[in-house]
Amino acid sequence: MKLLVTCDTGFESVLARELVELSEASIVSVSSGRVFIEVGVDRLIDVLRSRIANNIYNLIAVNENVATLDDVYRVVKGIDFNALIEPNQSFAIRSERMGVHSFTSMDISRVAGQAVIDSYMQSQGVRLKVNLDEPDVEIYVELNGSRLIVALSLTRVSMHIRGYKVFAHPAGLKNTIACAMLRIARWRPGEGLYDPMCGGGTITIEAALQAKGVEVPCIAKKNINWNVMPRLFPSIAKGFEKLCARGVTESERIHVGVDINPVFVEGAVVNAKSAGVDDVTLFVARDSIEFTPKLKELEKEFGTSFTISVFNPPYGYRMKPGALGKLYRRILSVLRDSGFETVVFITSATRISEAILREFHEAEIEKLKVVHGTLPSIVYRLSFLR
Ligand SMILES: C[S@@+](CC[C@H](N)C(=O)[O-])C[C@H]1O[C@@H](n2cnc3c(N)ncnc32)[C@H](O)[C@@H]1O
Repeated sequence: MKLLVTCDTGFESVLARELVELSEASIVSVSSGRVFIEVGVDRLIDVLRSRIANNIYNLIAVNENVATLDDVYRVVKGIDFNALIEPNQSFAIRSERMGVHSFTSMDISRVAGQAVIDSYMQSQGVRLKVNLDEPDVEIYVELNGSRLIVALSLTRVSMHIRGYKVFAHPAGLKNTIACAMLRIARWRPGEGLYDPMCGGGTITIEAALQAKGVEVPCIAKKNINWNVMPRLFPSIAKGFEKLCARGVTESERIHVGVDINPVFVEGAVVNAKSAGVDDVTLFVARDSIEFTPKLKELEKEFGTSFTISVFNPPYGYRMKPGALGKLYRRILSVLRDSGFETVVFITSATRISEAILREFHEAEIEKLKVVHGTLPSIVYRLSFLR
């Protein structure tokens, strides 16, 4: 089967590697925020296990020569929807448009919707119901330049919404980005993980979930469109059951988050409890500039050494001029001086980061340009050579 798997812009190569590892998928092509794959139907459950994917679509048609709304209508009308939509099911079109066209994405939705109704009427003699708020089936139509993609949404809501987040930090990181950063850090379950600016605990909790072997579909079950899944892919229900019935793996309290604001730390604790990882996480309300060297002193008690730090520092809004650079310099120095070997962080304050990082000659630095929300950002990976 052919799938379109989406992610936050810039993380495509990280997602592609994860998908190959999880499902032995072949990568067909990669574009901004999109990875097209070919995978066996029996491995669909493994694609859903992705921790970096936002949405997953089953490709129905791709046409490279679409210029007008008439072309959109013709391509969509030519699709046989019998196997995809039951006569009593409602549907909605979700469309996106990239490039220069003389019409809007709303026009695409309207025309494609009519084409689905006409196609179904012609083959089944039934007029399908449209339900824009809670459709049984969602058809995704994307026009990028002259390339039209028609796909069936297998996810209802982006998988970055994991469902356990009770407390929302005002500058919280998307869970999928947190997982992509853990991968960039080459952190592995069983290793200690330190987030010195943890906010609501996203990175620490996602690491802890991996350590316990808790799978994404099992904590984000509602995000999957179960109206289409079992009927089209009968093996999925069994695969899902098996995946989520697996007992959790034993782990240690070696996923540590620190925040200077006790309100955020309380939020992180609530989130960890809700995610079922409060037994393997530790959140501390402290200034991490002071706390980080102490963490290293406590390694014996933790029974692990902390060598990997992944975090998402403030980007400088509401900070005094000069304060952000000072904070970045101090946290990177204290992590280096405390023996951390790998430090990964994301920031949109790239000018300041670049200036500060010039002072860290001893580190090998890799950069990945990404978009965080709407902010052009960089994920930095520092390896301190020892
Ligand atoms: C962008 S937020 C992190 C959000 C977090 N990744 C999440 O998903 O919820 C940055 C956090 O750094 C914290 N912070 C800033 N300076 C700090 C310091 N010196 N020590 C510890 N935390 C600090 C702030 O309180 C803020 O919660």
